[in-house]
Amino acid sequence: MTHGTGPRPPAPPPSRPPASPVRRNRDADWNLWPVADYLAENYRRLHPCDIGVIRHHAAVYRRYAPGSLARTLELGAGPNLYPLMLAGAASRRIDALEPGAANVRYLRRQLDHGPDASWEPFYQLCRSLDPALPADCAEALRPVHVVRGTAADLVPGRYDLASMNFVAESVTEDPGEFTALCEAFVRAVRPGGRLLAAFMAGMPSYRIGAGPVWPACPVDEADLRAVFAPRTTGLRIVRLAKDPTLPEYGDTGFLLLTAERPGSPDSPPAPQG
Ligand SMILES: C[S@@+](CC[C@H](N)C(=O)[O-])C[C@H]1O[C@@H](n2cnc3c(N)ncnc32)[C@H](O)[C@@H]1O
Repeated sequence: MTHGTGPRPPAPPPSRPPASPVRRNRDADWNLWPVADYLAENYRRLHPCDIGVIRHHAAVYRRYAPGSLARTLELGAGPNLYPLMLAGAASRRIDALEPGAANVRYLRRQLDHGPDASWEPFYQLCRSLDPALPADCAEALRPVHVVRGTAADLVPGRYDLASMNFVAESVTEDPGEFTALCEAFVRAVRPGGRLLAAFMAGMPSYRIGAGPVWPACPVDEADLRAVFAPRTTGLRIVRLAKDPTLPEYGDTGFLLLTAERPGSPDSPPAPQG
């Protein structure tokens, strides 16, 4: 007795899981940013890493006389108030640019009704490092204007100083898009303008609480140098050790950056395009 009618068909190739597509910035819904969980995980108390970032950034702002910067930027502000507090010492107008509706609502509420009590230790630290800050945190935040928008809305050359904390590497999985975000950040300041930034080092896409996965692009110091060295002068990058008091985001610590956009302060703003 025979079974079948011919030779066996070749075995199918071993099945591979489909390659997951790279998630770009527009693939995440930034309006759904989980403000309460993000604050609970990162900013409801002063973590050692916050102290490190605040020390680093305060040293930059201390170099400027009070009110000597006409207009500064906080790119992708999220619900984080401490970069805005620090800028309050030196800047006459701070644009907190943020695309997410929930973050914008939170920021506006903080400015209109006064900051949550949990921000007070952050403010006390900022003020201890920069005595130009007023006694009252709400007063320091008075120059802040919340602007709904993304890095794509930036007008080149508009700002004297631009600050960006945990944004370019935390909003896309695409290294090309990371570079483009950093490029827009650099071009947002006038020639001679100051850049101040913090990055998560080595962080892959991440969750906040039990929410969805947000796209991120793991970067190290060499990646930052490759992006910023050709576009800036006076580039300085320092590393902060991984903070074990934060949730496990898969990072290896923070990278803190200062630089300037090349050109003299008197040069006309760079052409757009
Ligand atoms: C990881 S959070 C960092 C928030 C805040 N800067 C901080 O220090 O905690 C990333 C932020 O970038 C914002 N963002 C996402 N895409 C952006 C874009 N294309 N341009 C500017 N900001 C963006 C998000 O809405 C979010 O507030």
